[in-house]
Amino acid sequence: MTVLVTGGAGYIGGHMVLALLDAGEQVVVLDNLSTGFRWAVPEAAKLIIGDFGDAQLVDAILAEHGVDAIAHFAAKIVVPESVADPIAYYHNNTAKALSLLECAVRHKIKHFIFSSTAAVYGEPEISPISEQTPLAPINPYGRSKLMVEWMLQDVAKAHDLRFAVLRYFNVAGADPKGRLGQSSPKATHLIKVAVQAALGHRKGVDVFGADYPTRDGSCIRDYIQVTDLIDAHLLALAHLRKGGESLTCNCGYGRGLSVLEVVDVVKQVSGVKFDVRISGRRPGDPASLVAGADRIRTMLHWTPRHDDVGEIVRQALDWERRLHNRSIEADRQKV
Ligand code: UFG
Repeated sequence: MTVLVTGGAGYIGGHMVLALLDAGEQVVVLDNLSTGFRWAVPEAAKLIIGDFGDAQLVDAILAEHGVDAIAHFAAKIVVPESVADPIAYYHNNTAKALSLLECAVRHKIKHFIFSSTAAVYGEPEISPISEQTPLAPINPYGRSKLMVEWMLQDVAKAHDLRFAVLRYFNVAGADPKGRLGQSSPKATHLIKVAVQAALGHRKGVDVFGADYPTRDGSCIRDYIQVTDLIDAHLLALAHLRKGGESLTCNCGYGRGLSVLEVVDVVKQVSGVKFDVRISGRRPGDPASLVAGADRIRTMLHWTPRHDDVGEIVRQALDWERRLHNRSIEADRQKV
């Protein structure tokens, strides 16, 4: 049995590929390398460079590789970019996902794991956010993902396909064995940015808004370590393969940290006092997103192993150093 991982050369998908290989699974990666990296995919996985919206290509892969499950990670994920260019988000995240689903149904794929997001909840008044909290995304990114959730529900009713929708909160950290981490030079995520500032790879951190109705005025998020998140995917896959029902689960720890608190942890762990500037709010940012994470613990028996923001930051720092050394080495070889 083979798992097709779209976006498997990227940050989260790449960690899924490592975990599947560690578990002895066969893996095919489909990635157009728009934000992923060829080097991130181990040789033990088959890397196909292409687009998950290319139905002919996906049909050929599904026909050839004995795929029983699709784990769909490939997506555009930057909230402010989705506000500026919504069509790109609906095209990539929604329309192409429909094409992927059509291929899945055509090839009688039974299991589908979908990377969804806490952004489907918008700005909920209740915290922590349970899966029953009304869905009211406030940006095109969240809407582009929610539409796929709805498509999956309908498709699963009409066809022999079951799904796991995993709604990620803020994913951070790196593989504890040091094999992979967040590698995109353009990543905008807070921990990545703060770690880059600590290592002197960028000039300080801008805090986007300190006038939110939160304990210190900055936004609150639930930061989940990437391998813990991937454990949830493996459990979801095992659940579906055992014949378990389709499910939708939040993926977070159920605790929130403010932007200023995260910045402080990065300063403490790195020992570097980088500049922190309070600037204006960023479009599309809800004040607080904290996961109600009971369902995933009960239904999938998920037990996080890295729920420690100091550890998450240490992993991110280690990975950023490796990346930096790697790029220096690549430059050296060009000379
Ligand atoms: N932030 C800053 N300065 C920065 C970067 C971020 O203040 O340089 C703030 C943001 O304004 C926000 C918080 O840090 O308040 C977290 O921002 P990120 O960009 O790290 O992450 P988002 O919360 O915008 O989005 C992430 C994922 C989404 C997911 C969401 C769910 O990118 O896919 O978490 O919480 F939907």
